[in-house]
Amino acid sequence: MEILRHAVVLVHLVGFAVLFGAWVVEAFGQRRITRLQSWGLAIAAVAGLALAGPWGISYELNYVKLGVKLVVLLIIGALLGIGSARQRKSGSVPPAIFWLIGILTLLNAALALLWR
Ligand code: HEM
Repeated sequence: MEILRHAVVLVHLVGFAVLFGAWVVEAFGQRRITRLQSWGLAIAAVAGLALAGPWGISYELNYVKLGVKLVVLLIIGALLGIGSARQRKSGSVPPAIFWLIGILTLLNAALALLWR
């Protein structure tokens, strides 16, 4: 069970890497929203929800932290949706939306590591 949980954590980290990596590429490029960012978010979301169950561990999960991470993830999803709609209409993403996506992604990784 423990090894399976670690495998799901690995998938969760791949989701984070794809979302954040795709965002960093755009931060140094055209500041657009790409499909890869949404795929990364989806992968992190599915694996994160699976990890929110208390299986394969011998300690208590911090559900307040997980709730906050879920809210942050939903906000990132909304920003990706609104940003890509604006991008389609006007050809560019409002800077506040673009930067918030990266900042909130980093915030969720920081919450995972720093809030025990
Ligand atoms: C953009 C969204 C997210 C990002 C960037 C993210 C990032 C991370 C990172 C970097 C870790 C590894 C921390 C470590 O090694 O201990 C982690 C672990 C974890 N994440 Fe997320 N996460 C996200 C969303 C979520 C969501 C929505 C949930 C569930 C509601 C969740 C649940 C967890 C759990 C339970 C762990 C701990 C795994 C374990 O040690 O058993 N994550 N997350």
